[in-house]
Amino acid sequence: MSILGVYNPLNIEIDHGDGVYLYSKEGTRYLDFTSGIGVTSLGHSHPSLVSALKDQAEKIWHCSNLFKIGNQQEVANKITNNSFAKSVFFCNSGTEAVEAGIKVIRKYFNNKNVKKTKVICAKNAFHGRTYAAISASGKSKLTEGFEPILKGFKQVKFNDSKAISKNIDKETAAIMIETVQGEGGITPASKQYLREIQKIAKDNDILLFFDEVQCGVGRTGKFLATEWVKELNPNLVAIAKGIGGGFPIGALLLDNKTTKSMSLGSHGSTFGGNPLAMAVANEVLNFVLNEEFLDHVREVGFNLRKLLKEEIVPKFPKLVSGVRGIGLMIGLEAIENNEILIKSLIQEKLLTVKAGQNVIRMLPPLILEMKHVEEAIEKIDKAFSNF
Ligand SMILES: Cc1ncc(COP(=O)(O)O)c(C=O)c1O
Repeated sequence: MSILGVYNPLNIEIDHGDGVYLYSKEGTRYLDFTSGIGVTSLGHSHPSLVSALKDQAEKIWHCSNLFKIGNQQEVANKITNNSFAKSVFFCNSGTEAVEAGIKVIRKYFNNKNVKKTKVICAKNAFHGRTYAAISASGKSKLTEGFEPILKGFKQVKFNDSKAISKNIDKETAAIMIETVQGEGGITPASKQYLREIQKIAKDNDILLFFDEVQCGVGRTGKFLATEWVKELNPNLVAIAKGIGGGFPIGALLLDNKTTKSMSLGSHGSTFGGNPLAMAVANEVLNFVLNEEFLDHVREVGFNLRKLLKEEIVPKFPKLVSGVRGIGLMIGLEAIENNEILIKSLIQEKLLTVKAGQNVIRMLPPLILEMKHVEEAIEKIDKAFSNF
Protein backbone atom coordinates (compact mmCIF):
# COMPACT_ATOMS: atom_id res chain seq x y z
CA MET A 1 0.00 0.00 0.00
CA SER A 2 1.52 3.31 -1.05
CA ILE A 3 -1.01 5.38 0.90
CA LEU A 4 -0.20 5.64 4.60
CA GLY A 5 -2.57 3.34 6.40
CA VAL A 6 -4.31 5.87 8.61
CA TYR A 7 -7.70 5.53 6.89
CA ASN A 8 -10.01 2.62 6.32
CA PRO A 9 -12.01 3.59 3.23
CA LEU A 10 -15.19 1.86 2.13
CA ASN A 11 -14.85 -0.32 -0.92
CA ILE A 12 -16.56 2.34 -3.06
CA GLU A 13 -14.59 4.48 -5.45
CA ILE A 14 -16.33 7.76 -6.13
CA ASP A 15 -16.16 8.89 -9.72
CA HIS A 16 -18.16 12.09 -9.62
CA GLY A 17 -20.83 14.00 -7.79
CA ASP A 18 -23.85 16.04 -8.77
CA GLY A 19 -25.89 18.00 -6.24
CA VAL A 20 -26.81 15.72 -3.34
CA TYR A 21 -25.72 12.58 -5.20
CA LEU A 22 -22.42 10.75 -5.52
CA TYR A 23 -21.73 8.27 -8.31
CA SER A 24 -19.34 5.35 -7.97
CA LYS A 25 -16.96 4.22 -10.68
CA GLU A 26 -19.45 1.44 -11.48
CA GLY A 27 -22.21 4.03 -11.91
CA THR A 28 -24.12 3.38 -8.67
CA ARG A 29 -25.88 6.50 -7.41
CA TYR A 30 -25.77 7.30 -3.68
CA LEU A 31 -27.71 9.91 -1.77
CA ASP A 32 -24.94 11.70 0.07
CA PHE A 33 -25.69 12.56 3.70
CA THR A 34 -21.99 12.89 4.51
CA SER A 35 -20.99 15.91 2.35
CA GLY A 36 -17.38 14.76 2.76
CA ILE A 37 -17.94 15.17 6.52
CA GLY A 38 -19.74 18.49 6.44
CA VAL A 39 -17.75 20.04 3.62
CA THR A 40 -19.70 20.19 0.36
CA SER A 41 -22.20 22.71 1.67
CA LEU A 42 -23.59 23.52 -1.78
CA GLY A 43 -23.56 19.91 -2.92
CA HIS A 44 -21.30 18.40 -5.54
CA SER A 45 -20.27 20.20 -8.72
CA HIS A 46 -22.38 23.23 -7.97
CA PRO A 47 -22.35 25.22 -11.24
CA SER A 48 -21.58 28.54 -9.48
CA LEU A 49 -18.62 27.03 -7.63
CA VAL A 50 -17.35 25.26 -10.74
CA SER A 51 -17.42 28.45 -12.77
CA ALA A 52 -15.91 30.55 -9.94
CA LEU A 53 -13.02 28.10 -9.73
CA LYS A 54 -12.59 27.83 -13.51
CA ASP A 55 -12.64 31.60 -13.98
CA GLN A 56 -10.10 32.10 -11.24
CA ALA A 57 -7.89 29.25 -12.54
CA GLU A 58 -7.49 31.15 -15.79
CA LYS A 59 -6.39 34.32 -13.99
CA ILE A 60 -4.07 33.46 -11.07
CA TRP A 61 -3.88 30.41 -8.80
CA HIS A 62 -1.37 31.45 -6.23
CA CYS A 63 0.84 34.42 -5.47
CA SER A 64 1.23 34.20 -1.65
CA ASN A 65 0.45 36.90 0.87
CA LEU A 66 3.53 38.70 -0.42
CA PHE A 67 0.95 40.48 -2.56
CA LYS A 68 -2.46 42.00 -2.01
CA ILE A 69 -5.11 39.43 -2.89
CA GLY A 70 -8.26 41.22 -3.96
CA ASN A 71 -10.74 38.43 -3.49
CA GLN A 72 -9.24 37.62 -0.05
CA GLN A 73 -10.15 41.14 1.05
CA GLU A 74 -13.62 40.65 -0.44
CA VAL A 75 -14.18 37.40 1.47
CA ALA A 76 -12.87 38.88 4.72
CA ASN A 77 -15.19 41.88 4.31
CA LYS A 78 -18.16 39.62 3.72
CA ILE A 79 -17.39 37.71 6.91
CA THR A 80 -16.73 40.76 9.08
CA ASN A 81 -19.80 42.57 7.72
CA ASN A 82 -21.97 39.60 8.65
CA SER A 83 -20.59 38.41 11.97
CA PHE A 84 -19.01 39.46 15.27
CA ALA A 85 -15.57 39.32 13.63
CA LYS A 86 -13.31 42.31 13.22
CA SER A 87 -10.71 40.38 11.23
CA VAL A 88 -10.14 37.01 9.59
CA PHE A 89 -7.03 34.87 9.27
CA PHE A 90 -7.17 32.38 6.41
CA CYS A 91 -5.55 28.97 6.48
CA ASN A 92 -6.18 25.60 4.88
CA SER A 93 -7.95 23.30 7.30
CA GLY A 94 -9.96 23.12 10.47
CA THR A 95 -7.13 22.09 12.70
CA GLU A 96 -5.01 25.00 11.47
CA ALA A 97 -7.82 27.41 12.33
CA VAL A 98 -7.99 25.87 15.81
CA GLU A 99 -4.21 26.05 16.17
CA ALA A 100 -4.27 29.72 15.17
CA GLY A 101 -6.96 30.40 17.77
CA ILE A 102 -4.94 28.78 20.55
CA LYS A 103 -1.90 30.81 19.57
CA VAL A 104 -3.97 34.01 19.63
CA ILE A 105 -5.18 33.18 23.15
CA ARG A 106 -1.59 32.88 24.36
CA LYS A 107 -0.51 36.03 22.56
CA TYR A 108 -3.41 38.06 23.88
CA PHE A 109 -2.41 37.57 27.53
CA ASN A 110 1.30 37.54 26.81
CA ASN A 111 0.96 41.05 25.34
CA LYS A 112 -0.72 42.17 28.56
CA ASN A 113 2.04 40.58 30.65
CA VAL A 114 -0.54 38.44 32.39
CA LYS A 115 0.34 34.82 33.10
CA LYS A 116 -2.80 33.21 31.75
CA THR A 117 -2.09 30.20 29.56
CA LYS A 118 -4.62 27.55 30.53
CA VAL A 119 -7.58 26.59 28.37
CA ILE A 120 -10.69 24.85 29.65
CA CYS A 121 -12.08 22.49 27.01
CA ALA A 122 -14.87 19.94 26.87
CA LYS A 123 -14.79 16.20 27.24
CA ASN A 124 -15.75 14.30 24.12
CA ALA A 125 -14.48 17.14 21.93
CA PHE A 126 -12.70 16.96 18.61
CA HIS A 127 -10.57 19.82 17.31
CA GLY A 128 -8.33 18.19 14.72
CA ARG A 129 -4.94 16.53 14.69
CA THR A 130 -2.23 19.12 15.37
CA TYR A 131 -0.50 18.88 18.75
CA ALA A 132 -2.52 21.74 20.20
CA ALA A 133 -5.75 20.25 18.83
CA ILE A 134 -5.16 16.75 20.21
CA SER A 135 -4.01 18.25 23.51
CA ALA A 136 -7.22 20.30 23.69
CA SER A 137 -9.34 17.25 23.00
CA GLY A 138 -7.40 15.14 25.43
CA LYS A 139 -8.89 11.91 24.07
CA SER A 140 -6.51 9.02 24.53
CA LYS A 141 -7.49 7.69 21.10
CA LEU A 142 -5.93 10.80 19.60
CA THR A 143 -2.98 11.28 21.92
CA GLU A 144 -1.76 7.73 22.54
CA GLY A 145 1.76 7.23 21.25
CA PHE A 146 2.20 10.95 20.61
CA GLU A 147 3.09 12.03 24.13
CA PRO A 148 4.16 14.36 25.54
CA ILE A 149 1.18 16.45 24.53
CA LEU A 150 0.94 20.17 25.23
CA LYS A 151 0.23 21.22 28.78
CA GLY A 152 -2.44 23.60 29.97
CA PHE A 153 -5.63 22.03 28.60
CA LYS A 154 -8.28 20.77 30.97
CA GLN A 155 -11.31 18.84 29.74
CA VAL A 156 -14.52 19.15 31.73
CA LYS A 157 -18.05 17.88 31.18
CA PHE A 158 -19.77 19.46 28.16
CA ASN A 159 -22.96 21.46 28.75
CA ASP A 160 -22.10 21.88 32.43
CA SER A 161 -21.07 25.42 33.32
CA LYS A 162 -20.45 24.50 36.97
CA ALA A 163 -17.74 22.11 35.82
CA ILE A 164 -16.11 25.07 34.12
CA SER A 165 -16.45 27.41 37.12
CA LYS A 166 -14.92 24.79 39.41
CA ASN A 167 -11.83 24.53 37.24
CA ILE A 168 -11.10 28.21 36.75
CA ASP A 169 -8.00 29.60 38.40
CA LYS A 170 -5.99 32.77 37.95
CA GLU A 171 -4.10 31.23 35.03
CA THR A 172 -7.21 30.37 33.00
CA ALA A 173 -6.98 32.15 29.68
CA ALA A 174 -9.91 30.76 27.71
CA ILE A 175 -12.85 28.44 27.36
CA MET A 176 -12.76 26.52 24.11
CA ILE A 177 -15.67 24.40 22.92
CA GLU A 178 -17.46 23.23 19.80
CA THR A 179 -20.78 25.08 19.64
CA VAL A 180 -22.21 21.77 18.48
CA GLN A 181 -20.04 18.74 19.20
CA GLY A 182 -19.76 16.90 15.90
CA GLU A 183 -17.46 13.89 16.03
CA GLY A 184 -18.46 13.41 19.65
CA GLY A 185 -22.07 12.65 18.70
CA ILE A 186 -23.93 15.76 17.41
CA THR A 187 -24.54 17.43 20.75
CA PRO A 188 -25.48 21.12 20.64
CA ALA A 189 -24.33 23.33 23.49
CA SER A 190 -27.53 24.36 25.27
CA LYS A 191 -28.52 28.02 25.11
CA GLN A 192 -28.48 28.19 28.89
CA TYR A 193 -24.93 26.79 29.01
CA LEU A 194 -23.75 29.31 26.41
CA ARG A 195 -25.28 32.19 28.38
CA GLU A 196 -23.63 30.94 31.55
CA ILE A 197 -20.19 30.59 30.02
CA GLN A 198 -20.54 34.09 28.59
CA LYS A 199 -20.99 35.35 32.15
CA ILE A 200 -18.13 33.23 33.49
CA ALA A 201 -15.84 34.59 30.78
CA LYS A 202 -16.81 38.18 31.53
CA ASP A 203 -16.47 37.81 35.29
CA ASN A 204 -13.04 36.19 35.05
CA ASP A 205 -11.46 38.06 32.13
CA ILE A 206 -11.14 34.96 30.00
CA LEU A 207 -11.60 34.53 26.27
CA LEU A 208 -14.32 32.51 24.55
CA PHE A 209 -13.15 30.41 21.62
CA PHE A 210 -15.72 28.43 19.63
CA ASP A 211 -14.72 25.67 17.26
CA GLU A 212 -17.26 25.83 14.43
CA VAL A 213 -15.23 23.85 11.94
CA GLN A 214 -18.11 21.41 11.59
CA CYS A 215 -21.14 23.40 12.75
CA GLY A 216 -20.34 26.79 11.21
CA VAL A 217 -21.04 28.29 7.79
CA GLY A 218 -24.77 27.69 7.64
CA ARG A 219 -24.81 24.08 8.82
CA THR A 220 -27.12 24.82 11.77
CA GLY A 221 -29.26 27.34 9.87
CA LYS A 222 -27.27 30.37 11.03
CA PHE A 223 -24.00 31.54 9.50
CA LEU A 224 -22.33 30.79 12.85
CA ALA A 225 -23.96 28.50 15.39
CA THR A 226 -23.04 31.00 18.14
CA GLU A 227 -25.65 33.34 16.59
CA TRP A 228 -28.39 31.15 18.07
CA VAL A 229 -27.71 32.94 21.37
CA LYS A 230 -27.95 36.70 20.83
CA GLU A 231 -26.14 37.65 24.05
CA LEU A 232 -23.11 35.56 23.17
CA ASN A 233 -19.96 37.52 22.32
CA PRO A 234 -17.30 35.17 21.02
CA ASN A 235 -13.72 36.39 20.95
CA LEU A 236 -12.62 33.75 18.47
CA VAL A 237 -14.38 31.32 16.13
CA ALA A 238 -12.68 28.71 13.95
CA ILE A 239 -14.39 27.72 10.72
CA ALA A 240 -13.34 25.46 7.82
CA LYS A 241 -15.11 22.57 6.03
CA GLY A 242 -18.25 24.27 4.62
CA ILE A 243 -16.59 27.59 3.76
CA GLY A 244 -14.69 25.94 0.90
CA GLY A 245 -17.53 23.78 -0.38
CA GLY A 246 -14.84 21.15 -1.06
CA PHE A 247 -11.83 23.41 -1.55
CA PRO A 248 -9.47 23.15 1.46
CA ILE A 249 -9.97 26.35 3.45
CA GLY A 250 -9.88 27.21 7.13
CA ALA A 251 -10.34 30.55 8.82
CA LEU A 252 -10.04 32.05 12.25
CA LEU A 253 -12.49 34.85 13.02
CA LEU A 254 -11.23 37.34 15.61
CA ASP A 255 -13.10 40.01 17.55
CA ASN A 256 -11.73 43.49 18.08
CA LYS A 257 -9.59 42.82 21.14
CA THR A 258 -8.01 39.59 19.90
CA THR A 259 -7.38 41.19 16.49
CA LYS A 260 -5.29 43.84 18.22
CA SER A 261 -3.12 41.23 19.91
CA MET A 262 -1.68 39.94 16.64
CA SER A 263 0.93 41.87 14.75
CA LEU A 264 3.05 41.76 11.64
CA GLY A 265 4.68 38.36 11.26
CA SER A 266 3.10 36.84 14.38
CA HIS A 267 1.37 34.12 12.33
CA GLY A 268 1.13 33.09 8.69
CA SER A 269 0.49 30.49 6.02
CA THR A 270 1.89 30.05 2.52
CA PHE A 271 -1.39 28.93 1.00
CA GLY A 272 -3.79 30.66 3.40
CA GLY A 273 -6.29 32.82 1.54
CA ASN A 274 -4.88 32.12 -1.91
CA PRO A 275 -6.82 33.36 -4.94
CA LEU A 276 -8.26 29.97 -5.93
CA ALA A 277 -9.50 29.26 -2.41
CA MET A 278 -10.93 32.75 -2.06
CA ALA A 279 -12.79 32.56 -5.37
CA VAL A 280 -14.64 29.52 -4.06
CA ALA A 281 -15.21 30.90 -0.56
CA ASN A 282 -16.58 34.10 -2.04
CA GLU A 283 -19.17 32.15 -3.99
CA VAL A 284 -20.07 29.91 -1.02
CA LEU A 285 -20.67 33.04 1.06
CA ASN A 286 -22.99 34.46 -1.62
CA PHE A 287 -25.27 31.57 -0.72
CA VAL A 288 -24.79 30.95 2.98
CA LEU A 289 -25.01 34.59 4.04
CA ASN A 290 -28.40 34.86 2.38
CA GLU A 291 -31.21 34.73 4.94
CA GLU A 292 -33.48 32.81 2.54
CA PHE A 293 -30.84 30.14 2.13
CA LEU A 294 -30.45 29.85 5.91
CA ASP A 295 -34.22 29.70 6.26
CA HIS A 296 -34.20 26.80 3.85
CA VAL A 297 -31.57 24.99 5.94
CA ARG A 298 -33.64 25.47 9.09
CA GLU A 299 -36.83 24.30 7.42
CA VAL A 300 -35.46 21.25 5.61
CA GLY A 301 -33.48 20.30 8.71
CA PHE A 302 -36.57 20.61 10.88
CA ASN A 303 -38.56 18.43 8.48
CA LEU A 304 -35.85 15.79 8.27
CA ARG A 305 -35.59 15.60 12.05
CA LYS A 306 -39.39 15.50 12.35
CA LEU A 307 -39.76 12.62 9.91
CA LEU A 308 -36.95 10.70 11.59
CA LYS A 309 -38.65 11.24 14.96
CA GLU A 310 -42.16 10.42 13.80
CA GLU A 311 -41.63 7.75 11.17
CA ILE A 312 -38.33 6.01 11.88
CA VAL A 313 -37.73 6.05 15.64
CA PRO A 314 -41.19 4.67 16.67
CA LYS A 315 -41.15 2.06 13.90
CA PHE A 316 -37.72 0.64 14.79
CA PRO A 317 -37.45 0.85 18.60
CA LYS A 318 -34.89 -1.96 18.73
CA LEU A 319 -32.57 -0.15 16.33
CA VAL A 320 -32.80 3.56 17.15
CA SER A 321 -33.98 5.58 20.12
CA GLY A 322 -34.01 9.26 19.20
CA VAL A 323 -32.91 12.18 17.08
CA ARG A 324 -30.61 15.05 18.00
CA GLY A 325 -29.07 18.03 16.30
CA ILE A 326 -29.86 21.37 14.80
CA GLY A 327 -30.35 22.56 11.22
CA LEU A 328 -28.79 20.02 8.90
CA MET A 329 -26.41 18.67 11.53
CA ILE A 330 -28.36 15.64 12.62
CA GLY A 331 -27.73 12.55 14.72
CA LEU A 332 -29.86 9.44 14.78
CA GLU A 333 -29.26 7.78 18.14
CA ALA A 334 -28.63 4.10 17.58
CA ILE A 335 -29.34 1.16 19.88
CA GLU A 336 -28.01 -1.42 17.47
CA ASN A 337 -24.33 -0.83 16.60
CA ASN A 338 -24.17 2.35 14.51
CA GLU A 339 -21.62 0.90 12.10
CA ILE A 340 -23.89 -2.03 11.30
CA LEU A 341 -26.81 0.33 10.67
CA ILE A 342 -24.66 2.61 8.51
CA LYS A 343 -23.67 -0.43 6.41
CA SER A 344 -27.33 -1.31 5.96
CA LEU A 345 -28.01 2.25 4.75
CA ILE A 346 -25.17 1.96 2.25
CA GLN A 347 -26.92 -1.14 0.88
CA GLU A 348 -29.89 1.15 0.18
CA LYS A 349 -27.54 3.74 -1.35
CA LEU A 350 -27.75 6.25 1.46
CA LEU A 351 -24.41 7.47 2.80
CA THR A 352 -24.09 8.57 6.42
CA VAL A 353 -21.15 8.71 8.82
CA LYS A 354 -20.66 7.48 12.33
CA ALA A 355 -20.18 9.76 15.33
CA GLY A 356 -19.47 9.18 19.01
CA GLN A 357 -22.11 7.92 21.45
CA ASN A 358 -23.28 5.36 18.86
CA VAL A 359 -24.81 8.04 16.69
CA ILE A 360 -25.50 7.87 12.95
CA ARG A 361 -24.43 11.28 11.72
CA MET A 362 -26.25 13.01 8.87
CA LEU A 363 -24.61 16.05 7.28
CA PRO A 364 -26.35 16.40 3.93
CA PRO A 365 -25.51 19.25 1.55
CA LEU A 366 -27.34 22.40 2.61
CA ILE A 367 -29.12 22.50 -0.76
CA LEU A 368 -31.10 19.41 0.29
CA GLU A 369 -34.74 19.53 -0.78
CA MET A 370 -37.86 17.86 0.62
CA LYS A 371 -37.87 15.29 -2.19
CA HIS A 372 -34.41 14.17 -1.02
CA VAL A 373 -35.61 14.04 2.59
CA GLU A 374 -38.46 11.76 1.51
CA GLU A 375 -36.07 9.62 -0.50
CA ALA A 376 -33.80 9.29 2.54
CA ILE A 377 -36.68 8.31 4.84
CA GLU A 378 -37.74 5.62 2.35
CA LYS A 379 -34.19 4.27 2.20
CA ILE A 380 -33.83 4.23 5.99
CA ASP A 381 -37.19 2.50 6.34
CA LYS A 382 -36.18 -0.15 3.81
CA ALA A 383 -32.72 -0.68 5.31
CA PHE A 384 -34.00 -0.99 8.88
CA SER A 385 -36.85 -3.30 7.83
CA ASN A 386 -34.23 -5.92 6.95
CA PHE A 387 -33.20 -6.36 10.59
C1 LIG B 1 -15.11 20.53 15.31
C2 LIG B 1 -13.91 20.20 14.48
N1 LIG B 1 -12.77 20.88 14.68
C3 LIG B 1 -11.68 20.64 13.95
C4 LIG B 1 -11.67 19.67 12.97
C5 LIG B 1 -10.44 19.42 12.19
O1 LIG B 1 -10.61 19.88 10.87
P1 LIG B 1 -9.63 19.38 9.73
O2 LIG B 1 -9.85 17.93 9.56
O3 LIG B 1 -10.05 20.21 8.52
O4 LIG B 1 -8.26 19.71 10.16
C6 LIG B 1 -12.83 18.93 12.74
C7 LIG B 1 -12.85 17.87 11.74
O5 LIG B 1 -13.70 17.02 11.70
C8 LIG B 1 -13.99 19.21 13.52
O6 LIG B 1 -15.12 18.53 13.35
